Amino acid sequence: MCGIVGYVGKRDVVSVLFKGLTNLEYRGYDSAGMALRDDGEIKIYKTLGKLINLKNELEARKSELKHPTSGIGHIRWATHGSPSLVNAHPHTCSCGKLVIVHNGIIENYKELREELLKKGCTFRSQTDTETIAHLVADEYASAKNLETAVRNSVKKLQGAYAVCVMHKDVPDVIVGARKHAPMLVALGEDENFIASDTPAIIEYTKKTIYLEDNEIAVVTKDRVRITDIEGNEIIKKVEILPWEPAALSKQGYKHFMLKEIHEQPDVIRNVLNGKLYDIDSPIILNEVKIDKEILKKLNKIQIIACGTSLHAALSGKYLIEDFAGISVDVEASSEYIYRKTTTDESTLVIGVSQSGETADTITAIKQAKAKNSHVLIITNRPDSNMARLADSLIPVNAGIEVSVAATKSYSAQLISFYLLAIHLAEIKGTLNKEYLKSIKHELIKLPSKIEEVLSNVEPIKTCAKKFSSYKNFIFISRGINLSTAYEGALKLKEISYINATGYAAGELKHGPIAMLDETMPVLAILIPGGITYEKILSNCEEAKARNAKLIALTSSNDKNLESIFDVVIRIPEINEIISPAITCVPLQLLAYYIAEYLGKDVDQPRNLAKSVTVE
Ligand code: AGP
Repeated sequence: MCGIVGYVGKRDVVSVLFKGLTNLEYRGYDSAGMALRDDGEIKIYKTLGKLINLKNELEARKSELKHPTSGIGHIRWATHGSPSLVNAHPHTCSCGKLVIVHNGIIENYKELREELLKKGCTFRSQTDTETIAHLVADEYASAKNLETAVRNSVKKLQGAYAVCVMHKDVPDVIVGARKHAPMLVALGEDENFIASDTPAIIEYTKKTIYLEDNEIAVVTKDRVRITDIEGNEIIKKVEILPWEPAALSKQGYKHFMLKEIHEQPDVIRNVLNGKLYDIDSPIILNEVKIDKEILKKLNKIQIIACGTSLHAALSGKYLIEDFAGISVDVEASSEYIYRKTTTDESTLVIGVSQSGETADTITAIKQAKAKNSHVLIITNRPDSNMARLADSLIPVNAGIEVSVAATKSYSAQLISFYLLAIHLAEIKGTLNKEYLKSIKHELIKLPSKIEEVLSNVEPIKTCAKKFSSYKNFIFISRGINLSTAYEGALKLKEISYINATGYAAGELKHGPIAMLDETMPVLAILIPGGITYEKILSNCEEAKARNAKLIALTSSNDKNLESIFDVVIRIPEINEIISPAITCVPLQLLAYYIAEYLGKDVDQPRNLAKSVTVE
C-alpha cells in the first residue's frame, strides 16, 4: 500500500529516491516524504498529495542541501491517522536523530505507545509508525548498535511491517526489516538499494534479494548484510528481475490503463505460448505439480482471491465445473480467513492475485497450507510473497501492471483458468475431442478478435459520452458472463466513482427492478448461440418496461436489437464459453472513457492502492 525506497551510493540521492517513488506511485498514496543524510545531518521533507508537491518542495529548498549521501523515501496510503503533513513519513524519535519509514499496520501500537510515553517520549502524529521510531531509539540508547536496536524492537511488534531506519550517528547505513509486508534489497556497484517493490529500483539494477519475514538487512554503499531475527547471518540468493524499465512507460498512451488494455492481445498470446500449441495437442501445464492420478480423483477445489482476481476466480469456477466436473468454491479471501472452512489435505486451493502481495489472500493461503492442502498460485508476480508460498505456480506473464485498475492481469488470469480447466478435463477425460478442439481453436483466435475490438473504439467512446452523467448503473448477465458483469461494474466504480452493480439478470425481478427508471441504465452482456441469450433478452425487456435506458454488449448481428436497446456495442462472433475474454475489453474501455470524460484520475483513483498489503 505505502511505497518505500532507500538508497546509499554515488548517484544523486534525491533523484534516485524521487524516481523510485514515482515508479511506486501507481500503488496509490496521499502524502510523500524523504529523509536525507546530508552534511552530517538528517534532513526531512514531506508534502501532502501528489509526488509533484514533494518535488516542488525539494526544488524550493534545494539551497539547504549540500551533497546527500543516503536517504529513505516514502509514499503513504493512510491507515492510522488521516492524510496530513504531521502523519506523513518519515517519522522521527523525540530528539529527531532517528528516522523511519514504514508500510503495514502495527496492531499493538497503543500499548507500546503508552509505555514509551511513560518513558518520556514526545509523540507528534497519530500514526502507528511513530511508535516504532521511539521504540528503536529507546533500544538504540542501550544497544548502541542500529541493527541490534531494530532487531530488539521488531521482536516487540505485532502486525505487519516493512521498515527502513536511519540514524544521524550511524552515517550512510539503512537498516530494513519486514514481516507480512514486502521488502527487497537491490544490488549495484558502489551503491545499494532497499525498496518495497521492484519498480522502485528497476532503472538502476536487476539484481535483487527478497527479504523473508523476520529478516533484517543492513545496507551500506558497498555491503548488504542479512540476518535472521536472532542475528545469524543468512546467505541469500540473488535473483535477476525479468522486467525491463520500458514496462514503466506509457509509450504514447494518455494513461497506463489505456496502454494496458491495448496490451491484452499480446498478453493472451504470451499466456498461451508454450501451453497451447495447436487444436490437436493437449494443453501443457507442467506448472501444476500434482500427480495425474491424484488429479483424476480430485473432487474439491477452493479458489480464494480479492477484487478483480475474485471475478477471474468466479469465471474459473464456471470453467472447471463445466469442463472437468470438479466442484469449486470461490470465496473472498477476507471472508475465508475468519470462518471454519472445510479445506483439507484433499482440497486443491487456488490463490489468485495480480500483485501476489494482497494480505488477505496471503493469510488465506497460509491457512490452507496449515491444513496440508496443495496450494496453486496464479499470479502476475512470480517474485511475490504469495508465489513463494506456492506448491504449484502459474505465472500469468502479463508484464508489470501500473494502473490501479486491473485490466490485462484480469485477461491473463482468465486465460490461465481456461488452460487449467481444459488441462483438468483432458486428464479426467470429461470433454469430447471435437468440443475440445473447438475451444482451443477459439482460444487461438482470441488475440486477433480482441485486436478487432481495440481497433474500433468509437462506438464505446460515444456510449461513454452519452452515459457519463448518469449516477447509477446496473450490469447484468447470466452464466459465464455474470462474473464479467461484476468486473465491468467494478471497473466503472473504481475509476469513475459512479455507483455500479453487477447482477445476475434473472435476479433483477427479485428486488433491484424496484430501482429501475430512466435514471438507471442497464448494461446487458448477451452472447447468442448459448443457453442464456433469450433469457437475458427477456430480462432486458422487463427493464425496458420500467423505462430503464438499455445498453447491449453482444456478438449478435440481429438488427432488431436496435429497437430494444438505446445503444448496441458489438464484438466479433464468439463462442459463449470463451466470450468473457472479449466482453471484458469493451467494459474496461467504457469505464476508461467515462472516467476520462468526467476528468477523473484514471490511473490512480482516490482511496485505492494497487496492492493491498494490510488486512
Ligand atoms: C482491481 O481493479 C482492483 N484495484 C482490486 O480489486 C484488486 O483486484 C484487488 O485488490 C486484488 O489485488 P490482487 O489481484 O493484487 O490480489
